Amino acid sequence: MATASARDPTALTALQAAFRARYGAPDPVAVIRAPGRINLIGEHIDYAGLAVLPMALQRHVALLIRPRTDAVVRIANLDPEFPTRAFAIGRDIPPYPAGDWGNYAKAAVQALARTLDPLDGFDGVIGSSIPIAAGLSSSSALVVAAARALLHVNGAHPMPLALAQQLAEAERYVGTEGGGMDQAICLGAVAGTASRVEFAPLRLTPHAVPPDWRLVVAHSLARAEKSGAAQQRYNHRTQECAAALAAVTAHLGLAGMSYRELVAARPPAELLEAGARALDDPVRRRYRHVITEVDRVTRGETAMARADLDAFGAVLSAAHASLREDFEVSTAALDELVQIATEAGATGARLTGAGMGGCIVAAGRTDTVDRMLDELAARFYAPRKIEGSLDDVLFVADPAGGASVEPV
Ligand code: GLA
Repeated sequence: MATASARDPTALTALQAAFRARYGAPDPVAVIRAPGRINLIGEHIDYAGLAVLPMALQRHVALLIRPRTDAVVRIANLDPEFPTRAFAIGRDIPPYPAGDWGNYAKAAVQALARTLDPLDGFDGVIGSSIPIAAGLSSSSALVVAAARALLHVNGAHPMPLALAQQLAEAERYVGTEGGGMDQAICLGAVAGTASRVEFAPLRLTPHAVPPDWRLVVAHSLARAEKSGAAQQRYNHRTQECAAALAAVTAHLGLAGMSYRELVAARPPAELLEAGARALDDPVRRRYRHVITEVDRVTRGETAMARADLDAFGAVLSAAHASLREDFEVSTAALDELVQIATEAGATGARLTGAGMGGCIVAAGRTDTVDRMLDELAARFYAPRKIEGSLDDVLFVADPAGGASVEPV
């Protein structure tokens, strides 16, 4: 992962300077890097146990650490918005108030303490190039970084997928009833690829991203806080999907089946008809999104394997329409970004992540990407006030590898 510019908060030099200033000697021993992600296709279906196709980003969290000899974790953040947090390791760590960034570190530490007790802690300095609350999984990257740090200083080396599963559970500490996509791709990604992620058991299958594809990420400038109103709406969607499953399987005489078993057992047309009969709005539309998204994941993967960007873009746009109309997690700003990107030559675009704010991803090629970037900058960002630089809210996603630990 790149650590180039002087103002890059993940650059080793920036982290080392902050570490020395804050903690003094002895020096840190390792840096953990954990990527953010975009989800290409398969939105709001991971918690239904259905396969998804995310890709890790070059934007990442970097955590520089040195071991402690007691059971305390202390992390300072280069971003002044996030004050230093220090807490005792334990099996039942009392959370900070909802929304506090330190809860993501506590989530990881508590989960590991429950399986690996007793553990020594670490002192750390963290920097991130992932836009916050942008649907790019900055929070799961933080959970993964804290976990890898704690494991490193205690000499433990679990398998990435086992850890991903554990951390998906662990992150529920913050109150989100999330699926397992984010932790899986953060730990298991392979550079240059997107991964099909399947659940129970967790399995990742990498697919090369065609080298002339360009995936543009554009932020709607609205935060989708995992701890705020977006969390409640997110959890409500997970409940609606579970209620839909119970009603449809009962209707079909298949009670007790999971979504995965259901989509394997019956063709989509029959499932949609059953949903239309067994469900009322809005749950009927939530269910329709889930069932139609399964097919879009398959079509998206096929399009990627064939390097067919037009077909891939069509899948993205169809997914956006479904997320907007049926799942109701889009916003006017996300719709506007999708429209601008499409008019500027994207073969397709959609919101990525949980929605309700956050980012879109738009599909283009080497020869169309500049026009997309220019028009998004001129039509969406120029009339608005951006905090930080344009590059923080509008950039091309490079398919990165999973979380790493490097000695320093
Ligand atoms: C959030 C969750 C994921 C997934 C997406 C929606 O990012 O953390 O598990 O449910 O929303 O696809």
